[in-house]
Amino acid sequence: MKPAFVFGTRPEIIKLAPVIRAFIERSVEPLLIHTGQHYDYEMSAVFLEELELPPIDYHLEVGSGSQAEQTGKAMINIERVLMKEKPDVTLVQGDTNTVLAGALAAVKLKIPVAHVEAGLRSFDRTMPEEINRILADHASEVLFAPTEEAGKNLEREGITEGVYVVGNTIVDAVLQNAEVAERKSDVLGRFDLKPKKYILITAHRAENTDSRENLTKLVEILEALPMRAIYPMHPRTKNRLKEFGLWERINSIENLTITKPLGYLDFLKLEKSAFAIMTDSGGIQEESIILNVPCLTLRYNTERPETVKAGGNILVGLEKERVLRYLNKLLEDEEFYLKMANAPNPFGDGKAGERIAEILLELHKKGELKVRS
Ligand code: UD1
Ligand code: UDP
Repeated sequence: MKPAFVFGTRPEIIKLAPVIRAFIERSVEPLLIHTGQHYDYEMSAVFLEELELPPIDYHLEVGSGSQAEQTGKAMINIERVLMKEKPDVTLVQGDTNTVLAGALAAVKLKIPVAHVEAGLRSFDRTMPEEINRILADHASEVLFAPTEEAGKNLEREGITEGVYVVGNTIVDAVLQNAEVAERKSDVLGRFDLKPKKYILITAHRAENTDSRENLTKLVEILEALPMRAIYPMHPRTKNRLKEFGLWERINSIENLTITKPLGYLDFLKLEKSAFAIMTDSGGIQEESIILNVPCLTLRYNTERPETVKAGGNILVGLEKERVLRYLNKLLEDEEFYLKMANAPNPFGDGKAGERIAEILLELHKKGELKVRS
């Protein structure tokens, strides 16, 4: 069997690594196609190295661009590779433009698509990611939903065949790397941070960074934080801060360390040792609950409602008062802190990657891995 993996951004590399590893352990050689949506060393190559992935077979060098430009360029390049390589299945993960491009290019060549992390919905169609998720799910033959709730979202849209609830491969990634991170990372020393005495911040989502008004609100929140904080910054956010004239201002916040994006081992260590995490990232909402760290999500909705229901995540949007209220409660009310920190992980047991490989191998063996007519 020949599985092709199409990926292009930081979270896709991290979340597909356990699936790639599971195929290799079963003596199946994966074909790795990197679109190049992320291209800086610290947004891509560092993860390929740290997660010890085999060499990439095709670097498509799509790079940055408008939504259609990036998706279209990726589709054209992916199609060329798929026509040449004729894989038995194309795997994509998540909700980026790379995912949409990979799914559309493959299904139209009658190559079945397997969507890892299928069925997530924020029900906010203004997010590019929501459109990508919906379209990728509808182009897929095999849908690996991380939770029952994600499976139900698919059912509501009439997708009932080929759906498997397997857990989220982020749990695999965390379990496979947390202990290595503990041993190898010296990130706390490098930034002079003490365990449980700082807040970890990330924000990169278009709705928070592309508008001057929202980005200003983020800066105002960071100016008001009641404790030390560290913010490994996505290049998108850095670019926008400079463009909107906010770069000097954010850099003059005394309690806040801004750094370039970090590798996975350093980042996992920073997450695990944080007092709390404030983020608009999808993957980091998941990792917080897995690592028992309270999460305040800088958004008004989430496609990970399981984390909120479990009690480990609170949606605070960009409301400064709300953020400060919850941070102060976390600082002052130990019972509240422990309740959030001990919220149960809804994303499974860390064997999602193995399940995905097993299911695809079985479908292939039975001749059932094909585009339905
Ligand atoms: C993309 C995904 C988002 C995901 C995120 C993961 C889409 C629509 N969005 O957002 O869902 O959460 O990846 O991090 O696919 N840039 C660099 N160097 C890089 C990559 C990007 O400088 O290596 C800068 C460029 O200015 C670029 C901007 O970041 O225009 C945005 O990059 P892009 O890949 O378009 O979107 P992300 O914000 O990374
Ligand atoms: N991450 C990392 N270094 C960083 C920031 C994030 O290794 O500086 C990891 C994080 O642990 C998580 C993933 O990147 O696994 C999340 O990626 P991102 O927030 O870019 O995307 P999203 O999950 O929102 O799509």
